[in-house]
Amino acid sequence: MTLTKQKLSQFAIDVRDGLSHFPKSLSSKYFYDAIGDKLFQKIMDLEEYYLTRSEFEVFETHKDKILSLISPNHERFRLVELGAGDGTKTKVLLEHFLKVHYEFTYSPIDISGDVLHHLEIALKEELPKVKVEPIQGDYFKALKELSYVHDCKEVVLFLGSNIGNFSKESGVGFLKHIGDYLESGDILLTGFDLMKDPAKILAAYGDKEGVTRDFNLNLLRRMNEELGANFDLSTFQHFPTYDPITGETKSHLISTVDQSVYIEELDETFHFNEWEAIHTEVSHKYSYKMIEEFAEAAGFKILAHLTDSKGNFVDSVWEKV
Ligand code: AVI
Repeated sequence: MTLTKQKLSQFAIDVRDGLSHFPKSLSSKYFYDAIGDKLFQKIMDLEEYYLTRSEFEVFETHKDKILSLISPNHERFRLVELGAGDGTKTKVLLEHFLKVHYEFTYSPIDISGDVLHHLEIALKEELPKVKVEPIQGDYFKALKELSYVHDCKEVVLFLGSNIGNFSKESGVGFLKHIGDYLESGDILLTGFDLMKDPAKILAAYGDKEGVTRDFNLNLLRRMNEELGANFDLSTFQHFPTYDPITGETKSHLISTVDQSVYIEELDETFHFNEWEAIHTEVSHKYSYKMIEEFAEAAGFKILAHLTDSKGNFVDSVWEKV
């Protein structure tokens, strides 16, 4: 009998890579399947998770200022949102821009067609006058498409401190790459979570209810379901850390016992020593100095730092040089 080896999924390849190195790691991009999306929605409503509420307050407070920065001469613009999700925060801006009669198009970009579909339906109901042109797919492919049109000022939104889930180097690289698709005078508005009381940060990534723990464990559940792994979730502990020097908040899953886990799709067994950690996510926190260095390295000029009343979070508005 000849065995035909099926082609491995990218998920399987990344898992094999991450579990074969020391320290072990798994990419947080795999948190987000349908269950992970729901858990993240729940996280955003948690008392301890201040990020979403803080950015919402920034938009509520500074919507006029944001408009005057992105369209000082009332010029037409395209609002491009990378990873739009349910658009809750962006709706604050869209509603305001409509109210003061600015001419704009809203282009949410998301890898999930489902997410875009729901957003489009919600907007049709809540803000029917907004001109919505969603683009499904990879951020850079979508930005490339838009750069061919470029018939008005581009305003790119990258919210929620999603930038924090990149390593420092790849974060700068990512922002720089966005800039490659923009022209001088175009705008990039990025949300950054600021350095603050470490206890507050640790609470946000280790909530009492254990939703963030389940969000991390969902990665192991996905591996069981999609890759035929046999992880026993009850033998892994969720453990967040914060380094106040670098601003790195890291999440880990720690094996509480010495154990081996078999992954069918890889036909491979991985050993975990007792108390061995898997690094699952980084969520960077920033100082203003770091943000200034980012802007300069990525080829932008800072127009404004807009924050909430507690100084938790900043939406930094940059202009492409
Ligand atoms: C999506 N991202 C900005 C969230 C964060 O804060 O890093 C994901 C998250 N991880 C744990 N809680 C929320």
